[in-house]
Amino acid sequence: MKILLTGGRGMVGRNILEHPLAVGLDIHSPSRNELDLRDKNSVRRYIEALEPDLIIHAAGRVGGIKANMNFPYEFLLENLEVGTNVIASAFDVGVPRFLNLASSCIYPKDVDGALTEDMILGGVLEPTNEGYALAKITALRLCEFISTRSNSIKYKTLIPCNLYGPYDKFDLTSAHLIPAIIAKIHAANLNGESTVEIWGDGSARREFMYVEDLATAVLQAALDYELTPSIINIGLGYDHTVLDYYCAVADAVKWNGDFTFDTSKPAGMRQKLLNVERQTAWGFRPSHSLQMGIRKTYDFYKRTNKQ
Ligand SMILES: NC(=O)c1ccc[n+]([C@@H]2O[C@H](COP(=O)([O-])OP(=O)(O)OC[C@H]3O[C@@H](n4cnc5c(N)ncnc54)[C@H](OP(=O)(O)O)[C@@H]3O)[C@@H](O)[C@H]2O)c1
Repeated sequence: MKILLTGGRGMVGRNILEHPLAVGLDIHSPSRNELDLRDKNSVRRYIEALEPDLIIHAAGRVGGIKANMNFPYEFLLENLEVGTNVIASAFDVGVPRFLNLASSCIYPKDVDGALTEDMILGGVLEPTNEGYALAKITALRLCEFISTRSNSIKYKTLIPCNLYGPYDKFDLTSAHLIPAIIAKIHAANLNGESTVEIWGDGSARREFMYVEDLATAVLQAALDYELTPSIINIGLGYDHTVLDYYCAVADAVKWNGDFTFDTSKPAGMRQKLLNVERQTAWGFRPSHSLQMGIRKTYDFYKRTNKQ
C-alpha cells in the first residue's frame, strides 16, 4: 500500500511516521517546500504522479485559543484551501481511500454530555475557533458527499479530541493548553517564581489525548480500512479540569508553587468531551494515562528546548 501523508512535519504527522505500526509502510510525506498544499495545481500533479492507495490528511493551520482568536480569517481560509485541494484532487485522480483528520472543535458549543458523531452541525459553534471549525466541517462533508457518489471510493473522517505530546508547539503565542502549561511551569521553576497564572477559574473541563495514541488509531484505520467507520470520534471518553492539567505538569516538573486565576480572560468552552462508543466498538482504546503522557512530553521538551 502506497500512502501519501500530508503534514508529515507536524506533531501528528511525525508521531505517525515514528510509530511502530508505520515500520515497513511505503509512506510519502512531502514538506511544505516540496509541496505547498494551498497550490491546487501542484497538489493535483503530485497526487497524479504518486498514485497513492491511501491519503492520510494531517496538514493544516493548527493553533491554540489565542492564535485562533487573533487570526480567524487565516484559520478559515488556509484550512479550507488545503482541505479542498487535497480532497478534491484525490477524488479527481481516483484515489480510493482517504483518512481526513477533523477536530472536536467542529461540535456545537452548548451540548450537555458527551459529543456523538450525529451532533455535527446541530448548533452554534464556539466563537473562539469558528474559522478553523468551519473549514474542518467543510472537509468532513466533502468526504461524506464523495463517499455517497461511489461504491469504490470511500473517504473517512477521524475526529480527534485535543492532543498533546512530542513535536507539539511550546511557543506561548501558538501553543495549545498543555504545551503552554509545560513552558510556563518549566520557566517558573527555572526562574524561582512562586506563582503561575491560569486563564479563567481552572474549572473548565478538557479531554487531551497523548498524540502517540492518535497515531495508533490512524494507522489502525489505514491497515483496517474497510472496518473503520466513515466518521468516528477518537478520544479518551473522560476529561480533566484545566487545574488538573496544571497540577499534573507541576508534578512532572517538580515545581511547588501556587496558581492564580485571571477570570477576566476567556476560558473557552466549559466542557468538550467526546463520546467514544463508536471507537470502542471499532476496537480502539488509548493506552497512555495523563501522568505517563505528561512525563513523556516533558522529557521531550527538556531534550529539545534550548532555553
Ligand atoms: N493538535 C491538536 O490538538 C489536534 C487536535 C485535533 C485534531 N488535530 C488535527 O490534526 C491535524 C494535524 O495537527 P497537528 O497538531 O499535527 O498540527 P501541526 O503540528 O501544526 O502540523 C500541521 C502540519 O501541516 C503542515 N501544513 C500546513 N499548511 C500547509 C501547506 N499549505 N502546505 C503544506 N503543509 C502545510 C505544516 O507544515 P509546516 O511544518 O511547514 O508548517 C505542519 O507540518 C490537523 O488536521 C488538526 O486539525 C489536531
